Amino acid sequence: MAIYSEETADYIWRNGKIIPWKDATIHVNAVGHASVAGIFEGIKAYWNEDESQLYIFRLEEHIERFIQSIKMVRYGFGYTKEQIKSAIVELLRANRYRRNVYIRPYIFQKGIVRELLQAQPDKPTEVVIDSWPFDSYRDPDKGLHVCVSSWRRISDNIMPPRLKCFSNYHNGRLAAMEAAVSGYDWPVLLDDRGKVTEGPGACLAIVRDGKVITPEITNGILESITRDTIKHIFEELLKIPFVERTIDRTELYIADEIFFLGTGWEIMPVLSVDRLSVGDGKTGSISKKITGAYREVVTGKSKNWPEWRTAVWD
Ligand SMILES: Cc1ncc(COP(=O)(O)O)c(C=O)c1O
Repeated sequence: MAIYSEETADYIWRNGKIIPWKDATIHVNAVGHASVAGIFEGIKAYWNEDESQLYIFRLEEHIERFIQSIKMVRYGFGYTKEQIKSAIVELLRANRYRRNVYIRPYIFQKGIVRELLQAQPDKPTEVVIDSWPFDSYRDPDKGLHVCVSSWRRISDNIMPPRLKCFSNYHNGRLAAMEAAVSGYDWPVLLDDRGKVTEGPGACLAIVRDGKVITPEITNGILESITRDTIKHIFEELLKIPFVERTIDRTELYIADEIFFLGTGWEIMPVLSVDRLSVGDGKTGSISKKITGAYREVVTGKSKNWPEWRTAVWD
């Protein structure tokens, strides 16, 4: 599955300045510590052709989560939320984007390669905001065929999934590789009690008897902003019950519908789990409804929740 855009931006933001993307270099020896505790965010901006406007979706909440994760790794952070939000708007303007974009703020401490464990809260950090043209990982009409991974999801007392830390993605990567070599598109991870958590890079919801069910935020998942978005859409717009509770593995096999949800994945239907069809093996009606409603909200075609959209162009 080709999921990463090879396209690069003209400009990148680094430590307070917008500079040419190709000039944002670093010594090779600096990567030792970088991703052990490095923190990042994944944000999307959507182009609205009718309004000639680019909307950043839920910028406030993403930066809030970025700052919370930075606090937990005890990095110093010399910026306010407002400064980072403005930096992102300025960067998208500098790159003259008039299309859908993925935005990735990240922070790390440079460490020589032999220095992996030293926690030095006072050490300077590199703060970077990258961006690149991005539509979707995959056409939602194709759906995904998934397996339950034999790898367990990291947990709050081992490696907290609540932190959006680069290292956490080693767990997801192991599961994604296992799924791929076994002929599946993507995995679902269980926690150490065998309960459903999420996929690498996206949360998960199932539909049973007309209700949408998703694991609680204390069930070993990232506190997903898309999860919060669809909770509002289901409850307030679509009038479909949204339940947060523990999900058993076997509920995946008997669910009427299943979908992944996340900033990058948006809403991605799951058509089979461990080669058992989900429902009739086609995208279900609730998955279709939320896919459409989510797109209307993120692009600003729906005027609901204007506070979720930050306009880039005047
Ligand atoms: C592990 C993981 N879970 C869930 C999500 C979904 O979170 P969000 O909706 O905030 O993008 C992501 C995506 O960023 C993720 O990486």
